[in-house]
Amino acid sequence: KKTAVIIAAAGTGKRMGSSIPKQYLKIGGEPILLKSVRAFCDNKEIDWIVVVTNGDYIQACLEMKDRYGLDKIQAVIEGGEERQDSVYRAIVEIDRLCPEIEYVLVHDGARPFVRQETINAVLEAAEEKGAAVACVPVKDSIRQEKDGESANLPRQRLYAVQTPQGFQKEILRKAYEQAFADGYYGTDDATLAERIGQSVALVRGTYDNIKITTREDMPMESRVGTGFD
Ligand code: CTP
Ligand code: MG
Repeated sequence: KKTAVIIAAAGTGKRMGSSIPKQYLKIGGEPILLKSVRAFCDNKEIDWIVVVTNGDYIQACLEMKDRYGLDKIQAVIEGGEERQDSVYRAIVEIDRLCPEIEYVLVHDGARPFVRQETINAVLEAAEEKGAAVACVPVKDSIRQEKDGESANLPRQRLYAVQTPQGFQKEILRKAYEQAFADGYYGTDDATLAERIGQSVALVRGTYDNIKITTREDMPMESRVGTGFD
């Protein structure tokens, strides 16, 4: 069984508003993307990594691979307009370069604190059920607004979705192809799998596996010199 990881790191980070894409900002002296990639390099179940990033940063990424010995990185490719476009390019690349890959995890480059236990649990559930996502129970009560009216949603059944999300490769490929055929854009990978009738296993993640999205997500000492202070 061969397993690949797609690291989605081709966004521009509009909500962060920093001068460089947020995945290249440093936390504790290290680029966020390096931390995200290293988590998978360190996992013995992972054979192959494809990084999808901004065209201007492909060279920087290759240098990072050499400098830190991230030997599982097999390709660094340019992303597309939306996350879904970026991930699909990586799926096509995996099929082209290594058709024997059986399982694929997708992970946000902007999620540097993912734990080994979470990676392992998502992979195990994907092998067993075909598709799995890491998620955590929401802590806040959630209201849904519509036409000026709002209603509380039952918190006991609500989960915040994280990455990694794991799939049998063929399921992921079919899910993406169908989404593009329908002109459908989703915000995560599992949603696309569900659209083709695949059930998705929920795997308990950890609250510290945050996606760095706005400046409040950056530790205080890492906010200086990033273009918004
Ligand atoms: N991503 C990507 N390709 C895109 C857009 C996003 O690979 N065209 C990646 C981001 O780099 C990030 C992950 O998908 O690691 C989650 O996306 P998000 O947090 O929305 O990042 P951005 O799109 O960069 O941020 P924003 O939406 O604020 O612009
Ligand atoms: Mg985005």
